[in-house]
Amino acid sequence: MSEPTGAARRRGPFQVGDQVQLTDPKGRHYTFTLEAGKSFHTHKGAFPHDELIGAPEGTVVRTTGNVAYLALRPLLPDYVLSMPRGAAVVYPKDAGQILAMADIFPGARVVEAGVGSGSLSTFLLRAIGDQGMLHSYERRADFAKIAQENVERYFGSPHPAWQLTVGDLQDNLSDTEVDRVILDMLAPWECVDAVAKALVPGGIVCAYVATTTQLARTVETLREHGNFNEPTAWETMLRTWHVEGLAVRPDHRMIGHTGFLVTARRLADGVEPPRRRRRPAPGAYGSDYTGPGSSSAAGTAATAAEAATGGPAEETDA
Ligand SMILES: C[S@@+](CC[C@H](N)C(=O)[O-])C[C@H]1O[C@@H](n2cnc3c(N)ncnc32)[C@H](O)[C@@H]1O
Repeated sequence: MSEPTGAARRRGPFQVGDQVQLTDPKGRHYTFTLEAGKSFHTHKGAFPHDELIGAPEGTVVRTTGNVAYLALRPLLPDYVLSMPRGAAVVYPKDAGQILAMADIFPGARVVEAGVGSGSLSTFLLRAIGDQGMLHSYERRADFAKIAQENVERYFGSPHPAWQLTVGDLQDNLSDTEVDRVILDMLAPWECVDAVAKALVPGGIVCAYVATTTQLARTVETLREHGNFNEPTAWETMLRTWHVEGLAVRPDHRMIGHTGFLVTARRLADGVEPPRRRRRPAPGAYGSDYTGPGSSSAAGTAATAAEAATGGPAEETDA
């Protein structure tokens, strides 16, 4: 049986064409592609690529200036952070959440927009495998080109499960019987109708947005639409730790914010979304609320303040 696309490049001795990640004594990373006869240059001397070709991963090479570099293949989280970028990438911590919480499975039929630099596309392709289908939509041709190069460099060839279309998702989405739709774009609420038509009953839409205003509009649009169950919204914070002798503490620096995630599931056609058992927080939909489903566009600041500070909603069976 042949190996899944890209798997042969994930193990074994280094070969020509492999990505190599060097780590210097200060922990800094440098990534390059192995080419016979070439040299890697640093400000502390150089070494020939040929020293690594045929060597096992985890080898230490020394430059002519006698500085030691550890050579490993970049992991996918390393790769997406070091590859050329068009748009901002989905960070590995969020890609992991998307794969888990949007339940991406081998063989899944997935639609994604936008593609940006191709970080999430690469994670998705690895998870669905050669038997799955990923149709990615990107409105900017220049970003689509960067993403295509990044994805093909990672797998070492085009991926058989991947189709990339340049254009707006909401105007071009023609796929049906789709299991999962992942939206990473400015205005995911504009795509909700098209997504509802594409998804199978039980399918999942997952949106990744950067700001609270986008989060609110996405959730309210899904809620109002009628074809989805109650959306779930969350964010993930990742804090790395310094562990050395008695100095065991969180690292001083962290990435404080990346984005928010929202998921909702497609209901069967003709089904009314079950009524919510929780009353909205006091004032949540007061006269200041102007989002989807609102009846008025003006109101008092007091109502907004009440909504912002509203206590826990009451449980009710009504
Ligand atoms: C933040 S980037 C996506 C990053 C990408 N997920 C990654 O991991 O590299 C957002 C992208 O969405 C694209 N975009 C925005 N609205 C779109 C739409 N309606 N249809 C398709 N692409 C869209 C933008 O051009 C941009 O490249």
